[in-house]
Amino acid sequence: MKKQLEELKIQIELFEIKQSEQVENFRLKFLSKKGSLNQLFEDFKTVPSEMKREVGALLNQVKQKAQQKWEEAQAQFEANKSKDSAEQIDLTLPADKEFTGSRHPLKIIENDIIEIFKTLGFVYAEGPEIEDDWHNFSALNFPPNHPARDMQDTFFITEDIALRTHTSSVQVRLMENQKPPIRAIMPGRVYRNEAISARANCFFHQIEGIYIDEKVSFADLKQTLYHFIQALFGQDVNLRFRPSYFPFTEPSAEMDISCMLCKGSGCNVCKHTGWLEILGCGMIDPNVLQASGIDPEKYSGFAFGMGIERIAMLKFEVKDLRTYFTNDIRFLSQFESMGN
Ligand code: DAH
Repeated sequence: MKKQLEELKIQIELFEIKQSEQVENFRLKFLSKKGSLNQLFEDFKTVPSEMKREVGALLNQVKQKAQQKWEEAQAQFEANKSKDSAEQIDLTLPADKEFTGSRHPLKIIENDIIEIFKTLGFVYAEGPEIEDDWHNFSALNFPPNHPARDMQDTFFITEDIALRTHTSSVQVRLMENQKPPIRAIMPGRVYRNEAISARANCFFHQIEGIYIDEKVSFADLKQTLYHFIQALFGQDVNLRFRPSYFPFTEPSAEMDISCMLCKGSGCNVCKHTGWLEILGCGMIDPNVLQASGIDPEKYSGFAFGMGIERIAMLKFEVKDLRTYFTNDIRFLSQFESMGN
């Protein structure tokens, strides 16, 4: 038996494991139930007791050797296997696209407008959506019984507090807190008690602008808005100003741009006039400057305000205002590549 064990030891040492199948062959030949080692363990029972100690030690030593060789071979082939599969990954393939969301079309337009005015030195400002009567109406020269204060238009919270009906309230806050020159652009959400339809909603978004300094004139207003419109819609868009009325400006105007869809020849969007109404503007009424502590003898200024939904509708040719707020991913994902 000792001789048999010596031979087996040599066989184990010489067994070549070069391919993965040979790992299993090795196990079957030496370590399995029917393998040679198990057979020798069976035979061990017949070894005379005075030899048992020596033969037993040798038997265990050989078994350990076989076990060790098998485990090492197994580990090596396992490692090679995972190395191979790692090499099969083609790192040059484009990655799977993950939808991480995108900017809302109204935010894209708002950011574009802010960027244009930034290049002219306008700073960004914000104000609260819940406003008092003073900032939303009185300081803006609304007479006490003006129809815009009516419950029809305004969501009142108390007699004196309401959801702001326009971003012009932010003008007042700026004028109260800063000394001219003031140049600011003020976007925000506004609220009006209107029936919801394709063309109207009970809340929407505006952008307000003001410029106050010594000797600011209507010519400055026109040139500023002209630059803005061409930067937003392109060089071939024309403007016109129509006289209008707002309590907080004098003189007041509404500004139209030539319809960019039909290039002025008339279509459904411009109701066959060739023009689109885009914003309200004017020279800030001296009463408004005075109410906020700015000397109207020394300073003058212009202001303008526009609806963001309307501009976005024209730019993206959106027909129903409600689509902005229904969170339909099919609508929103169309703007994925814009406005980063
Ligand atoms: N606040 C006006 C509105 O909501 C828009 C507006 C008109 C703003 C003329 C102005 C302005 O600053 O000068 O309809």
